[in-house]
Amino acid sequence: MISVDEAILQRRSVRGFLPREVPHPVLDEVFAIAQRSPSNCNVQPWVPHVVSGEALKKLAAALVAAGERGEPIAPDWPAESKFDGVYRARQVDAAVQLYGAMGVERSDLVGRRAAYVRNLGFFGAPHAVFIFMPHPFDTREATDIGMYAQTLMLAMTARGIATCAQGALGLYPGIVREMLGLPQGQRLLFGVSFGYEDPADKANAARVGRAPTTETVRFHR
Ligand SMILES: Cc1cc2nc3c(=O)[nH]c(=O)nc-3n(C[C@H](O)[C@H](O)[C@H](O)COP(=O)(O)O)c2cc1C
Repeated sequence: MISVDEAILQRRSVRGFLPREVPHPVLDEVFAIAQRSPSNCNVQPWVPHVVSGEALKKLAAALVAAGERGEPIAPDWPAESKFDGVYRARQVDAAVQLYGAMGVERSDLVGRRAAYVRNLGFFGAPHAVFIFMPHPFDTREATDIGMYAQTLMLAMTARGIATCAQGALGLYPGIVREMLGLPQGQRLLFGVSFGYEDPADKANAARVGRAPTTETVRFHR
C-alpha cells in the first residue's frame, strides 16, 4: 500500500475510464475507509449512493439527454460560481489545461459543450457515487462531506482506482432522485465518477498545478 503522501500526490481528476468494474469487495473496503472521515460532533452527514451497471447506464442516458436538450439546471444548492482575480485566473488555467489536452479551442463552443456533456455520462466510468446530505444540513455539514469525498478518493487512489469529483453531477438532482427512487429530503451536493483510467483518453493528459504555499498559507505566532 502506498503512503498517504503518495496517494495525495498521485490523485488527480480522471475524465476517461475503461468499462471494467471495480470488484465489490474493493468497493466495500474503500467505503469502509471513507466512513472513518471526521465530522462535526461525529454526525457523519454523508449519504453516498453508489450507482453501477444497468442503473448507471439508464442514469447516464437521462442526464446526457437533459444536458443535450439544454434542460435548465435545478441544483439543490446554487451552482453558478463567479470567480474574480486570482480565483478566475486559476479557473481559466484549469480550463486551458483540460481543453488543450482534448484539442478543443477556446472559441469552439460546440466542442466545449460536448466536453461538458461528457460529465453527465460519467466520462464512461463504470461507477459513480452521488453524495447527498439529509435536510436540513447545510454549510457546516458540507465541509464534513468535502473531507469524506477526499478520504474516499484517496482510498481509491491507493488501490489504483481513478476518480473525478463532479459538481456537474449535482445539476439535475431531480432526475437522480427519481431514477434511484430517493426521498425529497436528501439533497445532492456532487458526485464522483470512478473506475480504472483509460490512458488513451486525451482528456487524461491534462495536468493542473497549485499555487505555491507562499501565496496561500499564513503563519501566525
Ligand atoms: C467539489 C468538486 C467539484 C468538481 N466538479 C467538477 C466537474 O463538474 N467536472 C470536472 O471535470 N471536474 C470537476 N472537479 C475537478 C476539479 O476540476 C479538479 O479537482 C481541479 O481542477 C484540480 O485538479 P486535480 O483534481 O486533477 O488535481 C471538481 C472538483 C471538486 C473538488
